[in-house]
Amino acid sequence: MKNYIVALDGPAGSGKSTIAKIVAKEFKLTYLDTGAMYRMVALYVLENSIDYTDETAVENALKNIHMNIIGEQFFLNGEDVSLKIRTPEVTKVVSPVSAIKAVRVKLVDLQREISKGKNVILDGRDIGTVVFPNADLKVFLIASAEERAKRRVNDYQSKGINEDFNTVLKGILERDHIDSTRKESPLKKANDAIEVDTSFLNIQESSKAISDLIKEKIGG
Ligand code: DC
Repeated sequence: MKNYIVALDGPAGSGKSTIAKIVAKEFKLTYLDTGAMYRMVALYVLENSIDYTDETAVENALKNIHMNIIGEQFFLNGEDVSLKIRTPEVTKVVSPVSAIKAVRVKLVDLQREISKGKNVILDGRDIGTVVFPNADLKVFLIASAEERAKRRVNDYQSKGINEDFNTVLKGILERDHIDSTRKESPLKKANDAIEVDTSFLNIQESSKAISDLIKEKIGG
């Protein structure tokens, strides 16, 4: 069987990365968390005091950003930043940074390069619409904003970060807005994507829904 691509898109907190990891293990797929790549650019911008609203400054910085991804470990210019890219500070600036065209061009190229010759599941916002419009299976995950905020708060807690529900909910709604109204590759369900609502599904149920789709559509 030829290599295949599973595109898993959806808004922040819809469960993409948790589900993608489980499904990748089950079908022995390479998992690529594309959000983490945008987070690395955001981290670089923050750490180097670059004004993230200055598109030219961010674009100029791209040549100094070298990413290496080994499984779920993310290296930015040689440093393991896997934890640093998940902080609320990075989360706050990643949406505007990821709306910059030059950033998207660089990362989309890299995502295609990394996926070459492999069976891959990628999670993101534009995988089924832009990165791999011919993906073998496209899933669009959704969940209510309140449920997504609840998951993020739990997620932060498990990392020892305390953020209150209302702040997280507000951040999620802001990111949804920026991600889905930006000019470049907005968050949008591809016409041929299958929508799965995880609001009332636990992790096992959600990942089973995706596993069943892979078996049905690809035969993995
Ligand atoms: O999935 P995440 O929360 O780690 O994503 C972080 C940000 O990156 C999110 O606000 C939108 C952006 N992103 C994107 O624009 N395109 C992708 N393929 C993945 C993420």
